[in-house]
Amino acid sequence: MIEQFSIAGSTKETKYQSLLKALASLLKDEPDLIANMANVSAAIKEVFGFLWVGFYLVRGEELVLGPFQGSIACSRIKKGKGVCGASWKNEKSIIVPDVSQFLGHIACSSLSESEIVIPIFKNNNITGVLDIDSEHLNHFDETDEKYLSQIVEML
Ligand code: SME
Repeated sequence: MIEQFSIAGSTKETKYQSLLKALASLLKDEPDLIANMANVSAAIKEVFGFLWVGFYLVRGEELVLGPFQGSIACSRIKKGKGVCGASWKNEKSIIVPDVSQFLGHIACSSLSESEIVIPIFKNNNITGVLDIDSEHLNHFDETDEKYLSQIVEML
């Protein structure tokens, strides 16, 4: 139930551990992917206060904007384009400490300074990506990658 959604923890690691437990409980009775992506993006934004948290879903040769929390974002990204398209094409997570140094970065917000993108695998195929932007440089590291990867595995 929603009332039971509360996050403990004083470090990034313990916050993620608490978030994982809360999400497991929140997602377990809901089979709808869009509903779960909507709640996951809201939960991550609420706990960490990132600038933008959302999903792009594979639709043919493009990624199409899915559930998100934050400002209006570009609706479609071609395979290989931007950080999201590169993560999809290369089939791996990408941490960008400074978006101005990433060739081809797609700036949906001028406030974004760093970014992390995690691909979502289903039966060895990528079905979408989780994209998170921060207004701070160098905001993401391997701890974020590790726990965000576990979160998308729950979807
Ligand atoms: N910066 C992303 C585009 C999506 S927005 O950040 C929400 C990219 O380069 O793929």
